[in-house]
Amino acid sequence: MPRAAEQRRCSIGGVEARGIHHLGMAVDDLDQAVATYERLFGAELEHRETVPDQGVEAASLRVGGARVELLASLGEETPVGKFLAKRGPGMHHVAYEVADVGEALDELSAKGTELIDERPRRGLFGLEVAFLHPDAVHGVLAEIVSSG
Ligand code: CO
Repeated sequence: MPRAAEQRRCSIGGVEARGIHHLGMAVDDLDQAVATYERLFGAELEHRETVPDQGVEAASLRVGGARVELLASLGEETPVGKFLAKRGPGMHHVAYEVADVGEALDELSAKGTELIDERPRRGLFGLEVAFLHPDAVHGVLAEIVSSG
């Protein structure tokens, strides 16, 4: 590794994201939203599942080399339901891919980052995930995810 890059890594010491794993969108109607992404952008449905204990029905779509996660609420008192009531449909979170969610949480926590999840948990589609508080990322809810 070039010396400058090494120094930069040491001085920042944060999480090395491999890239954006997906963008999460809150939607009112999952069927309609999937159809819109297919029609407008040639998106391909990758997974779809209902997770009652997270109060969400979700679809994962491939859009070229990228991925969009569509989230519909199973009720007004669920996290996505509350988001929709407050802000309406739209961007919900950005998910950054990391090598290891647990290690990333340790690094973020050591830097005083405000976390929603202190430990990795099972997210949608079997992924290991954790969420950072939006206040830690200038108002945007951030997820870190490892696809194994
Ligand atoms: Co997500």
